[in-house]
Amino acid sequence: MILVTGGAGFIGANFVLDWLAQSDEPVINLDVLSYAGNCENLASLSGDERHIFVQGDIADSALVDSLLAQYQPRTIINFAAESHVDRSIHGPEDFIQTNIVGTFRLLEAVRAYWNNLQDEAKQNFRFLHVSTDEVYGSLAKDDPAFTETHRYEPNSPYSASKAASDHLVRAYHHTYALPVLTTNCSNNYGPFHFPEKLIPLMIVNALAGKPLPVYGDGQQIRDWLYVKDHCSAIRRVLEAGKVGEVYNIGGWNEKPNIDIVHTVCGILDELRPLSNTQSPLSSYRNLITYVTDRPGHDRRYAIDASKIERELGWKPAETFDTGIRKTVQWYLENQDWVANVQSGTYREWVEKNYTGRAA
Ligand code: NAD
Ligand code: DAU
Repeated sequence: MILVTGGAGFIGANFVLDWLAQSDEPVINLDVLSYAGNCENLASLSGDERHIFVQGDIADSALVDSLLAQYQPRTIINFAAESHVDRSIHGPEDFIQTNIVGTFRLLEAVRAYWNNLQDEAKQNFRFLHVSTDEVYGSLAKDDPAFTETHRYEPNSPYSASKAASDHLVRAYHHTYALPVLTTNCSNNYGPFHFPEKLIPLMIVNALAGKPLPVYGDGQQIRDWLYVKDHCSAIRRVLEAGKVGEVYNIGGWNEKPNIDIVHTVCGILDELRPLSNTQSPLSSYRNLITYVTDRPGHDRRYAIDASKIERELGWKPAETFDTGIRKTVQWYLENQDWVANVQSGTYREWVEKNYTGRAA
């Protein structure tokens, strides 16, 4: 079986669902259920014996030791993290704790477990660390996209904590020969994306008739990949990736933020047109509001995905047009999920992040 950490979050849950849709190999899912972890994401697995959910922290060494001893996984995929840049600006401590200390404790537990495995199991074991393109810093307009050898230049507490975790993973391979793989992916979007991030926030706010807050001039560029394509890339790296290597994952799909917001508004105008009573709004685009920029805002990310394409033959299945349409449709069809995640703590976050950002 495999052990997935952070499997109740956005990408982790998509990964677990896809894994069990394609294989009968059981998954132990270790997730602390932070504000971003949501068992509803895994509701379709209710009663499925192939999914073993354990609520707990990757930094809890005793718990991780006991799970490894009990279930003897052949592979570990580490999704668990604090993942939102704006939250890391308001309060970096949780990012240091989970992304750095948590990854370190997990690696220590895994190292002890792996050392005691017998020959074949030891050889076949893999620890895959899921990381981000943000560790490489920010690109100027005409710079080439990030390759795996781009220097690390993290600019936010979030990206700095992910960079530190990447370094630890690398060091455990070089020092202890732990069979690790690291993936650095660009911005994901798709089902179960928590509405603190750009795309789901815009969909959810638009449907509620609320302002669509665009930071700064809206010309920052991100490189978007449909979440299920990220999951297929991780599966491919697990199957065929070379131990100790880093693989960048992306879909060659750079877009300025303002274009993303216009695209979302355009699809909503088509699928859920504003009624006459809501005119003179007429288009969701009229909700777009420019607000004060994110401090230290990275201007551009772009992933050069040549290595994973060339060496492992991976390619994304979705284009941005097909993926974004599926995503908007998913949010329209899952309004209960949206309502359930908009709890008191969600409202407190929105208040904290957006009140006082002058228009
Ligand atoms: P998310 O915030 O939606 O989910 C994170 C999950 O980890 C949650 O279920 C949370 O409960 C769990 N978690 C947090 N702290 C934990 C701990 N100490 N122990 C156990 N579980 C814990 O994040 P996401 O967007 O799904 O990102 C998953 C991973 O992918 C992260 O490592 C992130 O850095 C990376 N990543 C994300 C993106 C993206 O666009 N979202 C892109 C590239 C890489
Ligand atoms: O690049 C990969 C990273 O992508 C992941 O490692 C992170 O976990 C993930 O959160 C994401 O980081 P970003 O900061 O790029 O994502 P976010 O959705 O927060 O913001 C995307 C862009 O949109 C960014 O330039 C900031 C801008 N933005 C965001 C919000 C929430 C706005 O203009 N308005 C907003 O309200």
